[in-house]
Amino acid sequence: MVTGGAGFIGANFIRYVLTKTDFTGRIINFDKLTYAGNPENLADIADQYPARYVLEQGDICDPKRVADVLQKYQVDAVAHFAAESHVDRSILGPGEFVRTNIEGTFTLLEAVRDLWKDRKDVLFHHVSTDEVYGSLGQEGYFTETTPYDPRSPYSASKAASDHLVSAYFHTYGLAVTKSNCSNNYGPYHFPEKLIPLMILKLQKGETLPVYGDGKNIRDWLYVEDHAEAIWTVMTKGVLGETYNVGGENEWENLKLVQVLCEKTAVALGRPAQEFLSLIRFVPDRPGHDRRYAIDCSKIKKELGWKPRTEFSQGLEKTVAWYLANPEWVQNVVSGAYKTWLERNYSAR
Ligand SMILES: NC(=O)c1ccc[n+]([C@@H]2O[C@H](COP(=O)([O-])OP(=O)(O)OC[C@H]3O[C@@H](n4cnc5c(N)ncnc54)[C@H](O)[C@@H]3O)[C@@H](O)[C@H]2O)c1
Repeated sequence: MVTGGAGFIGANFIRYVLTKTDFTGRIINFDKLTYAGNPENLADIADQYPARYVLEQGDICDPKRVADVLQKYQVDAVAHFAAESHVDRSILGPGEFVRTNIEGTFTLLEAVRDLWKDRKDVLFHHVSTDEVYGSLGQEGYFTETTPYDPRSPYSASKAASDHLVSAYFHTYGLAVTKSNCSNNYGPYHFPEKLIPLMILKLQKGETLPVYGDGKNIRDWLYVEDHAEAIWTVMTKGVLGETYNVGGENEWENLKLVQVLCEKTAVALGRPAQEFLSLIRFVPDRPGHDRRYAIDCSKIKKELGWKPRTEFSQGLEKTVAWYLANPEWVQNVVSGAYKTWLERNYSAR
């Protein structure tokens, strides 16, 4: 069962597992279908794999619904992606982050503990973020032993859920693994996030808001590389262990936006200068972490994973995908999927 499989990374993960691995089983996508969850992200997969891909709408905070779905399909592995994921939204309304990310993870852990008892041929994998480690200065990297120091309601809620997952390993012997990853980019990314937001603003010729002085640094990883890392941990990782995942690819926000201007200009056949002049600095996000950088040597050395996608190519693919899918963007932004959902899933 993949929770949150209709979101950005979950959908890319399901597509990756079904099309690029030797997995022969069935995937249950358990998703509440919030504003960020979109069944259309996997419409082609649903057509191609009718017997091996099932969508079950449900809330991870609903113990009965979770238990029913786990029982119905006799689920033996959970990849837990479902979360409220946008830092700015967590600043405006932290309650939903506490509910979904902490209470929802707790509900899932209790449900699998009840279903699996002492089984060891099962797995609960928790997908988490490097933001739990806090903020770095100019030097250093986050390792798996860096003390947690979350700064936003989002990262605090993810830190709490990480701790619950570890506690279930130590206290109840539940078979768990965890991964903490840096910023992802790629297709199906909800357009509130930096990279798709900028591409779409560029396409419309709108100004490009950059927080503060633009010097905040993030490490970027192509989403399919993250999917491969999660699959690697799920199939080769040691129970109870955490693996940091990153792109070894640090960029200041301003420089990243400038590169996006250049890539989008090339894709649209327009002069880059026209786009670069749209950049505007806006007041900084409260508690904005200065720098994130991941040391992913553990997963590289122990499990043989490494980031594959070169950043320039990954960005070109991403720009091309957004420009080629205006209907997806329009539907996601306009909330048309709500209607689609009510039509297709109201009976469930
Ligand atoms: N996006 C990143 O760069 C990044 C980096 C590292 C880790 N992560 C983690 O990866 C996971 C997925 O992130 P994403 O960017 O794909 O998020 P997303 O916001 O695109 O998708 C979240 C999905 O979870 C579903 N969901 C939300 N609340 C739910 C609930 N109560 N019950 C069931 N489903 C619910 C949504 O409908 C959506 O499909 C999250 O746990 C996030 O913390 C994200």
